[in-house]
Amino acid sequence: MSKEYKGCFITIEGGDGSGKSTLTEKLAQEFTSRGYTIVKTREPGGTPLSEKIRHLVLNPNTDFTICDRSELLLYLASRLQHIEEIIVPALREGKVVICERFNDSTIVYQGCARHLGMSYVEELCALACNGLATPDRTLYLDLDPEIGLHRIKSQSDRELDRLELEKLQFHKQVRQGYLQLADKHPERITIIDAGQPQEDVYKAALQAVELFKLKNPS
Ligand code: TMP
Repeated sequence: MSKEYKGCFITIEGGDGSGKSTLTEKLAQEFTSRGYTIVKTREPGGTPLSEKIRHLVLNPNTDFTICDRSELLLYLASRLQHIEEIIVPALREGKVVICERFNDSTIVYQGCARHLGMSYVEELCALACNGLATPDRTLYLDLDPEIGLHRIKSQSDRELDRLELEKLQFHKQVRQGYLQLADKHPERITIIDAGQPQEDVYKAALQAVELFKLKNPS
């Protein structure tokens, strides 16, 4: 558990287009200015191997198929490498790790939206992570997926990835999964309305992290 480390582990979760990257960047800037050493990272990704896995699972233009269970295990392989190479060393050094997506993404995308079973995937995530890193605090950016997908399509000219191309129903199930998880872990997960103006999202997020009382920078 990250409680055994000097550092602090914060994860930012949410559906596609919910504003995770913008919020992560703003929180990282804020806590850097307060004297904390921040490691800003993301999943899938964060290490050379994990970025390669990211490309494999998200690239919409491949000549192979990925079955749902293979997809699940690829996300977990990416995560383990990320934990061993980046997250645990940073937490041991007393840094604040802010990570876009972690186990909760796997539980809702693969467990709920891909119908592999939320409890089954939650157990598998715990088994794979082997207690090496557990988020201290998770901010879930809640947004109607129609708005999230519209944001992605209108705000960027990049091609949609393999998961973003899933049907609206898939993204609705992702949201239901997150709300279910937040209900199950209220001590860790704070729901933030991502439909409000960006400045208000930021204020709510900052308040949630401050309430949690980060240790003073070492
Ligand atoms: P993003 O980093 O741009 O949000 O894209 C990552 C995509 O991968 C997003 O659609 C969610 C999906 N994903 C899973 O399906 N399972 C996972 O375990 C993780 C970390 C991400």
